[in-house]
Parts: sequence; structure tokens; C-alpha cells
Amino acid sequence: MKILSKVLVASGLCFYATLAVAQKTDQFMGEIVNYDEETVPSYELPALLKTNKGRQVSNIGTWEKVRRPEIIQLFEENVYGYTPKKFDSIRYLVTNEVPDAMGGRAHLKEVAIRVWNKGNSVTINLVLFTPNKSRQPAPVFLLINNRGKRNTDPTRAMKSEFWPAEMVIDSGYAVAAFHVSDAAPDNKTDYSHGVLDQLYPEVLQQANGMKAIGAWAWAASRVMDYFTTDKAVNAKRVALVGHSRGGKTALWAGAQDQRFAMVVSSCSGSTGASLARRKYGETVSLINKQFGYWFNDNYKQFSKNVDALPVDQHMLIALMAPRPVYTTNAAQDRWADPRGSYLSVVNALPAFRLYDGQLTLPSEMPALNEPVWRSVIGYHFRQGKHDLNVYDWSAVIKFAQTRL
Ligand code: GCU
Repeated sequence: MKILSKVLVASGLCFYATLAVAQKTDQFMGEIVNYDEETVPSYELPALLKTNKGRQVSNIGTWEKVRRPEIIQLFEENVYGYTPKKFDSIRYLVTNEVPDAMGGRAHLKEVAIRVWNKGNSVTINLVLFTPNKSRQPAPVFLLINNRGKRNTDPTRAMKSEFWPAEMVIDSGYAVAAFHVSDAAPDNKTDYSHGVLDQLYPEVLQQANGMKAIGAWAWAASRVMDYFTTDKAVNAKRVALVGHSRGGKTALWAGAQDQRFAMVVSSCSGSTGASLARRKYGETVSLINKQFGYWFNDNYKQFSKNVDALPVDQHMLIALMAPRPVYTTNAAQDRWADPRGSYLSVVNALPAFRLYDGQLTLPSEMPALNEPVWRSVIGYHFRQGKHDLNVYDWSAVIKFAQTRL
């Protein structure tokens, strides 16, 4: 933000007004970053409800049997990479259990989810609290933790707004988390050391093979495999939550694995909820330069040619239909293009309307701190910075109460 001072002269008095003017462009990695709505180029989004053969999709059957699988394949091929579906075996080992955690309010289980393929294995470590007050299998909020492991501290010595476990438990939900590094370390030199080089080394040679985000999404599905075996949780009512790079992952995992009953994508930005073609904030070019190891190699060819991408991110949101999907943005997070995320949700609407013809959304971006909830679609634009915090969690929990 640039601070400009203006001197106003009125009725013989001098008023000094300090106006905070948002910068319209920035420089990053040798590129100009656009923050000016006026210079967003005109663009045409790829058609959501038209099959690759040009057939209009007007019913659920054609959507589910033809168009939805086509869109998944387009994202696999051009953006996130193909996710191998097979592995040799999976085992669940409870490594720690505390039946009266959180002062008796919750039952803690730490579970090592070990997956083998061709003689090698990886372990995804799950932290799970289930509410003691409920006798029924509990619906769950599962966080993909892309920040420090201390944010999901099972001892609760450290508490964090990023994963306010007590608040979720007190709302009647189970709360769970795994850390992305168990599947693929989050840096460009080590990302392959995990799911990729141990279980599926062949994908590392493929231009359309998955990379870090693919591996994280794969791990979320292995946690879902575990949930289907644990009677304390209701695996049919699992909301997958991710922030930023975790939010991109949550959308991709929810798109591929329809066992996730709801998806929450917080400030997910470029190659998450935001439309690539707007070229506002972080672009495809910049994300490929800085975080190329999140996406497949084919995605690099669109860095300078975004309009050639056969998808845009509204199609990813559409893949959640008819399940509830909640998208958030923050005012100080222009890098993630809040308006571009909202427009993605609006442009995903035709897929949701195949299931609920009454569903509409305001075409204008909602005002700050005024969430828009319409049937299974939730969106809010809150004040503050790029984050996942208690404001976000409490809104999402309230939204889930009648939908998850
Ligand atoms: C960087 C990156 C974003 C990402 C964010 C995060 O800012 O450019 O694409 O969403 O990190 O994960 O926090």
C-alpha cells in the first residue's frame, strides 16, 4: 500500500487526509503483477456444459456420465496430473489413544495410515478427535495441514486458529488433520520423497504425472479410506478443509473423490478457486515459476498462453456439485484474486443448477464480512489477511450444520 497525503482546503480550514491507495501493479520474479480491475483482459471461459464433442449438457445423466469425467481428465492431463488409483495394501495402526482428551470432551486417536506398493511404503499420520458427548458416529472436518505441525498439536499444549479443534468438537463434529509433508515434502528439491518416489516412481517420468498437490490429494483419500473403518466417525459426512495450497488440494481431492461430502477452500487463489484467465494477482506463469513442483509438467506450457488452457477454475468448483462447497477470501489477499474466486463460483453455477434449478447467486461480489449462502454454495470475503482463522471456521461450521 502506498500512502498518499492530500491537502484539502475547505472553509478556510486545512484538513490533512491520509488516503491509503492500493497499488495497481507490482513486480515479482521479473513479471508485472496486475492488481487493477480495469486492466483485467477480456476473456472467454471454456464451456462448462458442453462435451468435448460439442454436445450441450442439459441433464444430470450426461453431466455425471460424460462431462464430469471429461473435465476431471482435462485437469489431470493439463494441470494436476493423473493420480494412480491402485496400491497393494493399506494398514491402520493406532499409535496413541486418549479417551478423555480436551478435559473429557473428546476422544483422541493418532493413527498411522501405512500404504504399500511394490514393496515400498509411506505413512500418513492422522490426528483425530471425536466428540464424547455424541453416541452417534460423528461428522468430521478434516484439515489438510500445509503449515507447521504444531498447528494440529494432538496434546493441545499449542492451540491455533488454523485448526481450532476445541471449537469444532464443541459444535458436535469430529476434527482431524494430516500434514502434507507425510505425502510429499513441500519444497521443490524434496517433493518427490514420499508418495511419488516410494509408491509411484513412474509418475515422475510422465509429463502428465501428478506432483505434490496430486500426492497431497491422494493422501486425503487414504484418510477417507481409514474413516470408512472407524465407527466413531461418519464417513458419509466428511468435510475436507484446506487453506491456500491446501485449499487447491482440497478442491482437487474433492473433485476426484466424491466420498468427501463437502469441500472448504480457504484463500486458495491461483489454480485453486480463482479464474486463471483474469491474470489478476498470481498468474499461471508465476505459480509455475515459483511452485512448479505442485503441478504436472504439461501445465508449464500454459504459463504464457493461459487462454489455450482447456479448463478454468470454475470447472473445478463445478466438480463438487451437488455437494456443498464453501469458498473464502480475505481483503488483504489480492494475490489470491478474491473477485476471481467469486466469479469462479458464479460460473460453476450451471452444474449445480442441473440438480437444483432454483439455485442462484448474486452476480456482484459480496461485501466484506457478508457471507453469501445459497443452498449448497457458500462464499465469504472477510476483512484481514491471507489466513484460515476462527471467523472462517465458525462460518463454515454454521453453514455445515444444515448441509453436511
Ligand atoms: C504462495 C503461493 C500461493 C499459495 C500460497 C500458500 O503465496 O503463491 O499460490 O496459495 O503461497 O499456500 O500460502
